[in-house]
Amino acid sequence: MTTPSDYSEKIPNNVDLREDRRLQRALESWQPNFINWWESMGPTLPTRDVYLRTAINVGREGWAHFDFVPMRDYRWGIFLAERATDRRIAFGAHKGEPAWQKVPGEYRASLRRLIVIQGDTEPASVEQQRNLGATAPSLYDLRNLFQVNVEEGRHLWAMVYLLHAYFGREGREEAEELLHRNSGSEDAPRILGAFNEETPDWLSFYMFTHFTDRDGKYQLGTLKESAFDPLSRTCEFMLKEEAYHMFVGTTGVDRIVERTAQLMVEHDTDDVGPYGGIPLDVIQKYLNFHFSVSLDLFGSETSTNVANYYTAGLKGRWNEERRTDDHLLTSDSVYVDAMVDGDIGRREVNALVGLNLDLRREYIADCQHGVDRWNRDLARAGLTQRLRLPHVAFNRKVGAFAGIEASPEGEVLPPEVWNAHRHRWLPTDVDRTHVRSLMRPVHEPGKIAAWIAPPRNTVNGKPFDYEYVHLA
Ligand SMILES: [Fe+2]
Ligand SMILES: [Fe+2]
Repeated sequence: MTTPSDYSEKIPNNVDLREDRRLQRALESWQPNFINWWESMGPTLPTRDVYLRTAINVGREGWAHFDFVPMRDYRWGIFLAERATDRRIAFGAHKGEPAWQKVPGEYRASLRRLIVIQGDTEPASVEQQRNLGATAPSLYDLRNLFQVNVEEGRHLWAMVYLLHAYFGREGREEAEELLHRNSGSEDAPRILGAFNEETPDWLSFYMFTHFTDRDGKYQLGTLKESAFDPLSRTCEFMLKEEAYHMFVGTTGVDRIVERTAQLMVEHDTDDVGPYGGIPLDVIQKYLNFHFSVSLDLFGSETSTNVANYYTAGLKGRWNEERRTDDHLLTSDSVYVDAMVDGDIGRREVNALVGLNLDLRREYIADCQHGVDRWNRDLARAGLTQRLRLPHVAFNRKVGAFAGIEASPEGEVLPPEVWNAHRHRWLPTDVDRTHVRSLMRPVHEPGKIAAWIAPPRNTVNGKPFDYEYVHLA
């Protein structure tokens, strides 16, 4: 059973907003600020309307609706997944107790912090991607960019709803702050490092949506297990939208690799730059960068914060309920990556403090699927080159390896040696300039830029040459 959302209201929702006038008014007064933020920090390419998916319900079927919408009139709504009324906490000290419908006083500050950190990433990515419209390789890709952008906007709404509904005045202040911090800002940057990096070109965009949006999937997966039921239900629904963002990333890189492979075969060279392609070693360097900064988002290999969050029931593990252990972990131990006598090694720690690594392992395995898929394109083209994920110690700014330098193969290197080689491992100015030089807009229906293969998929059954975006 799903509750039909009320589409006649200013803020589409399935949370009975009209029953709570105070909350409704608070959100209605935040709404113009959100629109101001969208207009000043959102997509810069002027458009009339865009063929977009809008969430309208939460059921398995028919939860979304496709139509042309001017982006500023997009119906950003609040949707919580439906849940059994007797949901029980699945892990930690409160295991077996009924899930919380209100925030327990003792966990108020921690829960607010978790929601703010998640909420901060959502508008950040819109800001990072705001100029990409001007160089889209096709209308299909342009539409996908905007789809991701409006849905990240909705994810911000999802978090702001929780802050307004459950955290009083402090929650409302945090909701304002979410619009005041900006990606890359000197005075008020976004909270997490990867969300202050630029997304200056479409290779970066696809790498970001493959690797960094996937971090989002895993973070949402842990919050979906939360004992705080509204947070759990919100995240469950966000995951549904998130899947498409990663699809955009994985298939985007896939199509670039496919095109690069074609050019390599056609011209019998690795150096496809002069033929308008992105060389495979440049793709590898972008991959190295985006993977390593995304690993930083998982935090340190050992963390007492994450242990406390787990024990309190605020944040679970990926697929918590499918795990077959005691869901308390107090007497378990695990091995985590660590520096041991100046070398990369492992160290045994209590399972609770090693939970960041538990999540990161799931994430890495998932990232690898994408790389395997890209490598199948290379194999299919008859090429022997392969892409690979760099070692977890490569280019890290957070955790056990923040203080060392390591090669993508995981060899610890003196800083001067690492610096002498970094141009082979991370994008250089020359690489970035080449990639940027290819970024010429293709805004004609059915046409595609020469550095990327056309998609094999369509949007809602519409053909590739559909006019997905009407430019202003
Ligand atoms: Fe998101
Ligand atoms: Fe996303």
